[in-house]
Amino acid sequence: MVRLSKLATAVALLVAGTAAIAGEVEVLHWWTSGGEAKSVGELKKIMQEKGNTWKDFAVAGGGGDNAMTVLKSRVVSGNAPAAAQIKGPALQEWAAEGVLANLDPVAKAENWDALLPKVVADIMKYKGNYIAAPVNVHRVNWMWANAAVLKKAGVAGAPKTWPEFFAAADKVKKAGLIAVAHGGQNWQDFTVFESVVLGTGGAKFYNDALVKLDQKALTSATMTKSLETFRKVHGYVDPASPGRDWNLATAMVIQEKAAFQFMGDWAKGEFTSAGKVPGKDYICAAAPGTDNAYTFNVDSFAMFKLKDAAAQKAQADLASSIMGVQFQEIFNLNKGSIPVRLNMDMSKFDDCAKLSAKDFVATSKAGSLLPSIAHGMAVPPAAAGAIQDAVSQFWNDDKISVADGVKNIAKAAKTQ
Ligand code: BGC
Repeated sequence: MVRLSKLATAVALLVAGTAAIAGEVEVLHWWTSGGEAKSVGELKKIMQEKGNTWKDFAVAGGGGDNAMTVLKSRVVSGNAPAAAQIKGPALQEWAAEGVLANLDPVAKAENWDALLPKVVADIMKYKGNYIAAPVNVHRVNWMWANAAVLKKAGVAGAPKTWPEFFAAADKVKKAGLIAVAHGGQNWQDFTVFESVVLGTGGAKFYNDALVKLDQKALTSATMTKSLETFRKVHGYVDPASPGRDWNLATAMVIQEKAAFQFMGDWAKGEFTSAGKVPGKDYICAAAPGTDNAYTFNVDSFAMFKLKDAAAQKAQADLASSIMGVQFQEIFNLNKGSIPVRLNMDMSKFDDCAKLSAKDFVATSKAGSLLPSIAHGMAVPPAAAGAIQDAVSQFWNDDKISVADGVKNIAKAAKTQ
């Protein structure tokens, strides 16, 4: 994850850097799966319609860890892209380095404050100024299930609790199919972990342990129980999981090879691009025990300071396009997320998106709308990265006892 200490000199280099070609935006992102590529293609189209040139800077790797490493080295060498997909607390770190452009001229003219939920607007601001344009709201605590596989295994609907889940998973195994489709990459392990913690301990516990990083919560009996459940889930994953990309795991569910996947709703983008229909071919349900809570993940683009006036104009076009009604609808229909812009017409969206939109509002009122730690929304990158490593070590090594797993995660949470 990002550590920005070496960036002090980069600002000067950037400002002195070669002028960008007029109207060109180089955009760094990690949207390379089928559904993701289709979605970002819509942004490219809108930018081109406005007369700009889109220079694609895609860095493969779900969750964005690879993209963030590449971004750091580009900025350090004085060659930042015009825009980059940066999220959550990492935005603050980049802004503190002085390398991000102030988007207030666009944000004020378009009244973003009135168009965004406050919880999102706050993340997009540094010292009161907008430094990023939000794209969407992804919900992370989803469970995806193949309807035909459940039927074949004799499972009636999506399990609502962890005990129900394990009973269902046993039936799937007995039917000769894979219960849990999982890609063994650290960020995917972490994604499952946060849903298990939320489903085991509830919203307040999640907030104490994974947002406040409270040591008492992190070393509590509830965390022990969470790790026991997390390890049990691992028992239902096939041996070919290590290293697998998330979208290939989704494909296993789509192709009726596996029953369930725990993944944010970018997975729905894969179902959609495969022509699958929710409620018929597949089921979207909150991960067991997490019905009344919502872990959110907001994608956003920050712009780097550029001197060239045409490049700045293209950046302003990008910021404005991202928040525009046209983009918010078409992008999110493809991506699996919901619009971040308030008061959008949801009539073209499917039931999963409608449920997400409803739960976003309901959990926000109930105090159970929570930032996803696995997707860089909850804590600074250094702590998130350290916890993620400890979680994956535990997931991948049965010789690490639950007690040691708890200790390692709590220790990692102290990383600054
Ligand atoms: C991003 C999504 C992306 C997913 C998989 C998440 O962190 O927020 O936009 O689809 O990673 O790459």
